[in-house]
Amino acid sequence: MSDRAADLVAALAGLKAEAEQQIRAATDGEALQRLKTDYLGRKAGRVSVILRELPSLEADARRTVGQAANEAKAAIEQRLAEAEAALAAAAAPPAGDLTMPSRPAWRGALHPVTLVGTEICEIFHELGFTRAVGPEAETERNNFTALNFPPGHPALDMQPTFYLGTGTLLRSHTSPVQIRVMEAYQPPIRVTIPGRCYRRDPFDASHAPVFTQVEGLCVDEGITFVDLKAAITFFLRRFFAAGVKVRFRPSFFPFTEPSAEVDVECQLCHGTGCPACKGTGWMEILGCGMVDPNVFENVGIDPERYTGWAFGMGLDRAAMLRYRIPDIRMLFEADMRFHRQFVDSA
Ligand code: DAH
Repeated sequence: MSDRAADLVAALAGLKAEAEQQIRAATDGEALQRLKTDYLGRKAGRVSVILRELPSLEADARRTVGQAANEAKAAIEQRLAEAEAALAAAAAPPAGDLTMPSRPAWRGALHPVTLVGTEICEIFHELGFTRAVGPEAETERNNFTALNFPPGHPALDMQPTFYLGTGTLLRSHTSPVQIRVMEAYQPPIRVTIPGRCYRRDPFDASHAPVFTQVEGLCVDEGITFVDLKAAITFFLRRFFAAGVKVRFRPSFFPFTEPSAEVDVECQLCHGTGCPACKGTGWMEILGCGMVDPNVFENVGIDPERYTGWAFGMGLDRAAMLRYRIPDIRMLFEADMRFHRQFVDSA
């Protein structure tokens, strides 16, 4: 290589190093633009000036110097592009206002009716009960006829019903799921059935046209009223308080015989009498009884071999007693001040 060619290659290497250093030091786009013109400008750029000497070189030297010049040019271009990209990234506005306070994390709460329903099913789970559910739109047959309500019977007046059309209705209690369970499974049966029910009731402090019940059903050989009393008393003492007073009063339901209503000692006055219990000291909490043999016949279970007991309980009322909620409408109003109180109850 001629001396001249060697000088030019060395000069190119020097240019490249110098350019890289200056690019690194540049702090804005204007400086980068100036460096670009300075080194790569077509007429007076420092690389171009060297390239202009090529025609005066030998063919071999021309190739060597030309290649070195192209490499230097490419390296400088690349550094410039990188520096421009880095400046652009630094100048871009942040994705959001990073000084804005974050929103507090909001923990959800379970609805008080869900809480008591789960608790009741868990207490019965200890006694070997599993859980079953059924549809809210039911047949008249499952809701009434198969449960031993004769057509036109006055007991139908106990449950003012929303009819959907001929033979279908919004279930007025969870008892039709007893029919579904007994038609699907053979005894022994032990189930709890939570679910929403509907009645044409006024919407006031103690009634709602939509409410939730939990049903219980136990069918096996040799089941007696003693089992019913023991299981219900065990349950109520677990749910309210150990040793709470419980009483069974004779009652009537078409699907049980005998039937009873169960009261617990008033949870507000503990039996001394207050406005909540109308001075009686007792609160009515559930209905129950021994499954009527007609119901067994309707679902194809042999009433000579099997007996059983059942109960039905309003969960809204249970939640009101448990959490001292004075008005059933609070369960429906979705007032967050009310619901936030249950955040830690789950
Ligand atoms: N289904 C009844 C009602 O809603 C409550 C009830 C009473 C359910 C006695 C039962 C029972 O299973 O045995 O008024």
